Amino acid sequence: MSARILIADDEAKIRKVMSLLLRSEGYETLAVENGAAAVREATRFQPDVALLDQQMPDMTGMEALKQIKSGLPGAVAIIVTAHGSVSLAVNAIKEGAYDFIEKPFDNDQLLLTVRRALDYKSLSGELHQLKKRFDETLSFGQIIGSSAQLQQVMAQVRKVAATSVTVLILGESGTGKELVARSVHNLSPRSDRPLVTLNCGAIPLTLIESELFGHEKGAFTDAKEAHQGVFEQADGGTLFLDEIGELPLEAQVKLLRALETRSITRIGGKKPIAVDIRIIAATNRNLEEKVRQGAFRLDLLYRLNVFTIHVPPLRERRDDIPLLADYFLAKYNKALGVNVTGVTRQAIGKLMQYGWPGNIRDLENALQSAMILSQNGVIDVAQLPMRVRGYPASIETELLGDDEASVIRKAHATAEKTLIEETLKRCGYSRTATAEALRISRKTLFNKMKKYGL
Ligand SMILES: Nc1ncnc2c1ncn2[C@@H]1O[C@H](COP(=O)(O)OP(=O)(O)OP(=O)(O)O)[C@@H](O)[C@H]1O
Ligand SMILES: [Mg+2]
Repeated sequence: MSARILIADDEAKIRKVMSLLLRSEGYETLAVENGAAAVREATRFQPDVALLDQQMPDMTGMEALKQIKSGLPGAVAIIVTAHGSVSLAVNAIKEGAYDFIEKPFDNDQLLLTVRRALDYKSLSGELHQLKKRFDETLSFGQIIGSSAQLQQVMAQVRKVAATSVTVLILGESGTGKELVARSVHNLSPRSDRPLVTLNCGAIPLTLIESELFGHEKGAFTDAKEAHQGVFEQADGGTLFLDEIGELPLEAQVKLLRALETRSITRIGGKKPIAVDIRIIAATNRNLEEKVRQGAFRLDLLYRLNVFTIHVPPLRERRDDIPLLADYFLAKYNKALGVNVTGVTRQAIGKLMQYGWPGNIRDLENALQSAMILSQNGVIDVAQLPMRVRGYPASIETELLGDDEASVIRKAHATAEKTLIEETLKRCGYSRTATAEALRISRKTLFNKMKKYGL
């Protein structure tokens, strides 16, 4: 696609010369005779570069540029000025023009300036893309995982982050709810404002209200100084109410009121204070169950579950385990003063079979201890915690009476067969993809499939 150049000049002769010259270079051009037309056409024509005459009857080139930029932030413009108006030209650049040329202009000079502007435009476009990708990796920073289930969570995070909607994050303990909450904040327009976390389960009943809403000096015996609550601290940013299921009923009423009115009153204070916050709440509790038990207010639940993100337990996204293992090795090598470079295939097999009731936190702990136990820089089955190593009860009974070596052989075979079956399925029965996922050669995979009759 050829680059598009918008030309705005009130002199018909100039428009003609510029158009001919630029078209002879293969550019697509559109010429208009005043600033208003330039602004109007810019949104439709989407020029890569705009050549704007500074002196037009209805507005200056710089004024036109300002208006164009409000709709097209990446617009690149060259201001065309009368001969000798250098200070004006310098000003134009300061205010966001890419470059300027003086009338009467030299043809080659014009073409060169346009070409440079186009280069700049494509470079800054790439830079912008790069920065965006970089920001995303950074904000997702530690959320590791490539499973379809986790990708879906991330897609939801990206979508809801753009809004100010209240988010409720549900999931078992250790699944990464707090990481998800952070990502929502980091990817939101509020990311340069504070993210304030209140762990509702960790505060004594008597202090909760003051933690939430703050208090004035002298509001109660211990209130020696005025204190800002989390609502005020998070103003303009995000308030993360962690373990919301643990919030006592009395506090729930007050929280609900604050959410409804988007304002709080400090304890002992007289005036309500308006706050602008996005709320994220998380819990590993079943809030509906708590509502049935009368321990959680239904109206509060409705306020919170505007947009719900379920973070799936690790056992439902086992595909993430190899990647998480690599990540934790890299993360803890330095901290633990060890140099563990990998996990054997058998050990990965065990990690992928285990149920992980404590989810990722549990996996993280298991790997840390295995790293400490590792002797030769590699984690093998022997370094894994007993509960992870343990064979499923069904296999144990089945093999009862055999000598230990054969028990282990058979259990390994069963585990391996299951692992290969599951991986094949997950990879759409592509052998290349399966071999890659299991980190074995295609030939080895083929032999094993033959051995297990797959
Ligand atoms: N996808 C992930 N990638 C990397 N680390 C993760 C991931 N998910 C969780 N973790 C790590 O696991 C640990 C537990 O995560 P987090 O504290 O977010 O869980 P949680 O759901 O809030 O748990 P709880 O309900 O117990 O508070 C943290 O150390 C976190 O960094
Ligand atoms: Mg948590």
